[in-house]
Amino acid sequence: MKYIITSAFVFFLFVNVFAQKKNETDLQIKINRIVKRMTLEEKIEMLHGNALFSSAGVPRLRIPELTCDDGPLGVREEIKRFDWASANWTTDSATFLPNGSAIAATWNPVLANKYGVVIGEEANARKKNIMLAPAFNICRMPLCGRTYEYYSEDPYLNSQLAIQSVKGIQSQHVAACIKHFAANNQELNRDSVNTIVDERALREIYLPAFKAAVQQGDAYAVMSAYNKVNGYWCSENDFLLNKVLKKEWGFKGVVMSDWSGVHHTVAAANNGLDIEMGSSGPYDEWYFAKPLLAAVKSGQVSVKTIDDKVRRILWLICHTSMSANHPEGSIATPAHTKSAYDIASESIVLLKNDANILPLNAGKIKSIAVIGDNATRTFALGGYGAGVKAKHEVTALEGIKSRFGNTASISFARGYRANYSANNTDAQNSGYDQPDQNLIDQAVALAKTTDIAILCIGSNREYESEGHDRKNLELPFGEQALVNAVSAANPNTIIVIMAGAPYDLNEIKKANHTIVWSWFNGSEAGNALADVLKGVVNPSGRMPFTFPVSLKDSPASALNTYPGKEMTADYKEGILVGYRWYDTKNINPLYCFGYGLSYTNFTYTDLATDKKTYKPEDKITVSLKVKNTGSVAGKEVVQLYISKVNSSVLRPAKELKAFKKMMIAPAKTAAVSININAGDLAYFDSKLSKWVVEPGQYRILAASSSKDIRQTVTINVK
Ligand code: BGC
Repeated sequence: MKYIITSAFVFFLFVNVFAQKKNETDLQIKINRIVKRMTLEEKIEMLHGNALFSSAGVPRLRIPELTCDDGPLGVREEIKRFDWASANWTTDSATFLPNGSAIAATWNPVLANKYGVVIGEEANARKKNIMLAPAFNICRMPLCGRTYEYYSEDPYLNSQLAIQSVKGIQSQHVAACIKHFAANNQELNRDSVNTIVDERALREIYLPAFKAAVQQGDAYAVMSAYNKVNGYWCSENDFLLNKVLKKEWGFKGVVMSDWSGVHHTVAAANNGLDIEMGSSGPYDEWYFAKPLLAAVKSGQVSVKTIDDKVRRILWLICHTSMSANHPEGSIATPAHTKSAYDIASESIVLLKNDANILPLNAGKIKSIAVIGDNATRTFALGGYGAGVKAKHEVTALEGIKSRFGNTASISFARGYRANYSANNTDAQNSGYDQPDQNLIDQAVALAKTTDIAILCIGSNREYESEGHDRKNLELPFGEQALVNAVSAANPNTIIVIMAGAPYDLNEIKKANHTIVWSWFNGSEAGNALADVLKGVVNPSGRMPFTFPVSLKDSPASALNTYPGKEMTADYKEGILVGYRWYDTKNINPLYCFGYGLSYTNFTYTDLATDKKTYKPEDKITVSLKVKNTGSVAGKEVVQLYISKVNSSVLRPAKELKAFKKMMIAPAKTAAVSININAGDLAYFDSKLSKWVVEPGQYRILAASSSKDIRQTVTINVK
């Protein structure tokens, strides 16, 4: 029987693969036929923008124009065809989805997929073929202004989320344009900086999520970054675009420039760029317009190269706007709101709960002071492309009122003034870090009268933004003074921090007993937060990056390589990014990668592997038991790190290789089984230019965070 089922399954797979191959061959035949009918001028028209967010089709052959829109936090509102002003539509209010680091904090690829589906459905409703999302550059430097758009400091966590976000978007026949390729890790000087990064660091840290999104997520589009990598602009980087992306990884889709990120015609055309977007001046004078036509005519760029670009665009169109059964799409539906809620509620990280105040006992609490500008602030807009015109956004105050308003009186005090605009000069923003004593006094007066104070601080979408980095890790707007004053006035003060990147929480961690980390958490942020405070949701978010004790502990600062000298940022730390740096150098972080508490506890036992010795092509099956020892159900994120014993080359102290998030009922034990490919224990040997699995012993660490190793098992690799 088993044999019959297995044979039937193998036959099914064979038929499926065969059908896919045949479809792909038929598609290529169709595309070749179209290309043959096109004039050179028509082809060139397709290779550059014809408006801010589109490129031309071929009306004569009924090839539609290619339309795109920004993400990643939702589908950006319609802007005018030729300028950045709002088109003032009434039908483009969208779902505001939790920001990238919030998605990463869920450690839940299923939710990344849900995110993608929402983006894809809303893109269809807006007739957009390409979504400029997801964005997942590595969090190398905690000050980077776009950290909140991106996922994590870890390439494996990044990869798992990137694959599923892409799959979710593309399940709706909308292309995901993964960005920004590659090593675009700071905003300061982003359009001029030359990133010097060795091949090993590129392969092990900066490229894996792009590779995974291409090979496992089948991403249809890639956006080249603004910066240079090793001397060449990313939009004309033969190594990145031709050698690695297109040849090695077999990428079949389109490479699109970042807006205004093209510098030369011939170099970009020959080195792998397919579409030029966002340049300035008349459209027919862009690098990939008349100058490209001239370059083809003079023989500097071959017709074969042009045809390859056109084929890629047609291939993308066939999978999106011209695909069979193309979905209609829908926008800001209740189902989308539910997805936004699900992601938000799993992203919130409980940092400290020493007084066991949380979850709040709604029956006993009669009055709550909600304090802080962030309690009433919305976070959908800001950050240029990452801004969303949200159909609705529940603030923290609204969420707390809806969850506690029936049983407690709830009052609000603003507490601080968020005097900072991303578009201001430093001089115009000066004083933004100063407390407002009047507002503090009002907050203290209120906090003295209530059972509980919930202090909502952090940053906002002006303070963290594309186009600039933060100057330091300090909490802005004089918030520390407010925290000190309110905490002294009310012993039951809960600190809620809303932000998208690491901050200096040293004082708060020392002095406050209850700390909750929320994010720019989307349309349902306030409801998700209130449900976590109330215990309707047991927090299960885990930090996707390290919070250093001090900025100078972080690799780029310690090695003085940020923002770089003479427009050159030398990534001297190589592969030691994030916890790989802190753990290898024995530097204690403030909050480590993977950290987050729950309202329950979990114990780990019985860690084992299916064998003791493996070959590099083997699969390692790791098993363990995880018990929920508390009285409420909760989700645990089991993290598996590997550590090479006596490595002959530099290896990080540990590297995440797998994780699994699961819900466990109180007093129940989950039997967990996780596979790691022995091949994934490899390091990249730059001299040999290949991945090498060094024979010998490896420790597998089963951990609840990168610093909380619960069990260890050692294996051998031959
Ligand atoms: C950003 C991209 C964005 C593009 C279009 C650029 O400044 O770097 O992420 O997609 O603008 O708005």
